[in-house]
Amino acid sequence: MILEIQSLTAGYNAGPDILHDVNLSVHENEIVTIIGPNGAGKSTILKSIFGLTDIRNGKIIHGSRDITYHKTDQIIRSGIAMVSQGQNIFPDLTVEENLEMGAFIRQDKKELNQKKEEVFSFFPILKKFREKKAGILSGGERQMVALGMSLMLSPEILLLDEPSIGLAPKVMQEVFEKILQIRESGTTILMVEQNAAKALTISDRGYVLELGKNALEGKGKDLLRNPRVGELYLGKSQKALTHKKKSVTKKKS
Ligand SMILES: Nc1ncnc2c1ncn2[C@@H]1O[C@H](COP(=O)(O)OP(=O)(O)O)[C@@H](O)[C@H]1O
Ligand SMILES: [Mg+2]
Repeated sequence: MILEIQSLTAGYNAGPDILHDVNLSVHENEIVTIIGPNGAGKSTILKSIFGLTDIRNGKIIHGSRDITYHKTDQIIRSGIAMVSQGQNIFPDLTVEENLEMGAFIRQDKKELNQKKEEVFSFFPILKKFREKKAGILSGGERQMVALGMSLMLSPEILLLDEPSIGLAPKVMQEVFEKILQIRESGTTILMVEQNAAKALTISDRGYVLELGKNALEGKGKDLLRNPRVGELYLGKSQKALTHKKKSVTKKKS
């Protein structure tokens, strides 16, 4: 187990508990997705791992280390990176400067440049726009900048909060393909996604969170087939699913 959340209860400042007794685990090199309704506490889970919430009970274990009360900079140094939801780049800095910001704790300039070139070869589009201000890029390109920044410290675990939000379907597909490539390069991924169908398709396992509590968990494929998940998160009734299958067969023949 590379990351384990045990009986986590957490909130913000003096506010109410948002997460109640949440359990979640991620094995090395898995892609694990958390789905659930708006306000369920999905982002709060990622922020808790990243040291940004008030943890009231439970534990967060990274490898063999208890990181429950570690500060964010310590967590980053220990090999966890996060791409937060929404505005997650510096629009007035160039793409290259954004990547450098992602590696702010790297001391060695040579190492930094080496990593930068590595990220550029992983995202050719970023190399093309290297000198351009990140703010002028399209939504999909900006998401690639955010992913590139997060890879600058070669994280062991990458936390992704709604990486496909607001993107057109084709661009969304490109982002998911990049996420698969990041995993292939050896990084473990824990993500939160609105697009449950797409996310579960590329995930080894998934968790459904409702009202700050564990509701369901299973293999990505099994959750996709789970009628309750279908109805609540994939926008399909069982009837519609059956219909769809039939019509697909029809089209092919
Ligand atoms: N920084 C914050 N301070 C106080 N409450 C917050 C903060 N961020 C989120 N919340 C509250 O926590 C709850 C869960 O939010 P969130 O984790 O963002 O849900 P999700 O990501 O599943 O949509 C919501 O009621 C939200 O208002
Ligand atoms: Mg959220």
